[in-house]
Amino acid sequence: MNENATAISTSLRARLLRWLLLPGFLLTFGLLAKNYLTVSEMANRIQDRLLVALAVTISEHAINSGGDLLSRDIELLLEQFTRENTYYRVQGPDGAFVTGDFGLPRLPEGVTLEPGVPHFYNAHYRNEDVRAVTMKYLVANPSSNIYGWVIIDVSQTRRERDNLIYDELLGSTTDFLVLMFLGGVFAWIGVSRGLAPLRRLQQAIRRRSTDDLRPIRHAMPKEVTEVVKSLNALLARLESSITANQRFIADASHQLRTPLATVQAEAEWALRNASNPEDRQALERIVDQTRQTARLASQLLNLARVSPEGRKAVRYEKTDLLALAASVTSGMVRQAIRHDIDLGFDDQSEGMNCQIETGNEVLLQEMLSNLIDNAIVYGTPGTIVTVRLIGGGVAVGPVLEVEDNGPGIPKEDRKAVLERFVRLDEQNGQGCGLGLAIVREVADAHRARLTLEDGKDGKGLKVRIEFPL
Ligand SMILES: Nc1ncnc2c1ncn2[C@@H]1O[C@H](COP(=O)(O)OP(=O)(O)O)[C@@H](O)[C@H]1O
Ligand SMILES: [Mg+2]
Repeated sequence: MNENATAISTSLRARLLRWLLLPGFLLTFGLLAKNYLTVSEMANRIQDRLLVALAVTISEHAINSGGDLLSRDIELLLEQFTRENTYYRVQGPDGAFVTGDFGLPRLPEGVTLEPGVPHFYNAHYRNEDVRAVTMKYLVANPSSNIYGWVIIDVSQTRRERDNLIYDELLGSTTDFLVLMFLGGVFAWIGVSRGLAPLRRLQQAIRRRSTDDLRPIRHAMPKEVTEVVKSLNALLARLESSITANQRFIADASHQLRTPLATVQAEAEWALRNASNPEDRQALERIVDQTRQTARLASQLLNLARVSPEGRKAVRYEKTDLLALAASVTSGMVRQAIRHDIDLGFDDQSEGMNCQIETGNEVLLQEMLSNLIDNAIVYGTPGTIVTVRLIGGGVAVGPVLEVEDNGPGIPKEDRKAVLERFVRLDEQNGQGCGLGLAIVREVADAHRARLTLEDGKDGKGLKVRIEFPL
């Protein structure tokens, strides 16, 4: 199906041109052929009339002169005016007298001559194609001694006639070629212009990001509006199904959180009271797993909240990044100490702008704590983690950085780790690969630019989030 779709899309212009140009070519050839037939028939008819006139004149002359040939002067005159070679033969009654060329082509066999009716045919004489006429008519001339049926043959070469046809055909072919060329050019322009709205539609669709599911509102020609309508209907269905999905995930993770918290509390209580080492081990595992599952549930909820569909419900307000970053960092110091990590805060705002107009505190806290959590969890004991806030100026917004000198993320993996459920080291940590996906979504929701870079001296990881002005 896919293959089909691309085949049609690539050949739309070709198809239109084919359907315009192919009939054009056929039509042209048809017209040329018809033109050839008309011209040659006309030329034949003219030559035939001339032949009859010649036949009558020549035979009259022969009879009146008692069988003389045409004089050389008259023959030259004839040649000059008709530009053809003319041959003739006159036979008296019962073939009694003959003048002219004896070897001239004869009437094809099986043809009976009617008196006074000329018979025309094509023949070959002296290595040339000739047009010939044979006529029979009654002579009763009192001044001569001839009485009876005279048969006259006249043949004429066809050079001038062929020239005429050739010239005419050459002329009309050139005309048609020019016409075809112009037709092709206009067809090309027409097709391009006709397809322009489709190209606009394609660009409009291509410009869309995955979270922009608003209907397409470009003005389109009638033939395409139905397609656009269906597309818009599809977009609407897609949007509502995505929204429903988001709501489902949010509801499900929300529903999970309460029982998980209960299990965790119960397990912790049991752990405190257990004395048997085996029981303690089992209970520790339960507490651990429940904590991890609770984190997953809360991350899923967060993800549903920051995803494009969920974002609409989130309120944005003026947010102070300095206060937020400082409080999240200090809130995680204890966790850092437990892992033997040196977590510090580097305030580089120096009284510059640290506020963003449209921020959501909860989402930003989640983002930052995911980044610090990663640096702590994936860092080895002794790793230094720095949360840095750089104040914004006239042209740039504030920048938030989380830098560590831990193992870092290889360059080729930096794109992949931003995807959901992607983890590089399955053994390490307790996450499920949602942390950086959330970071990305939160950055997107704030129209901030997220980059993953090397840390200081090319060691570790530096995550940089540049907020807009
Ligand atoms: N600061 C970091 N240092 C080294 N590796 C990191 C760091 N942060 C993230 N990673 C790598 O990126 C992967 C994805 O991170 P994340 O999306 O937070 O998922 P999770 O932490 O749940 O595994 C992690 O599994 C880890 O391999
Ligand atoms: Mg993580």
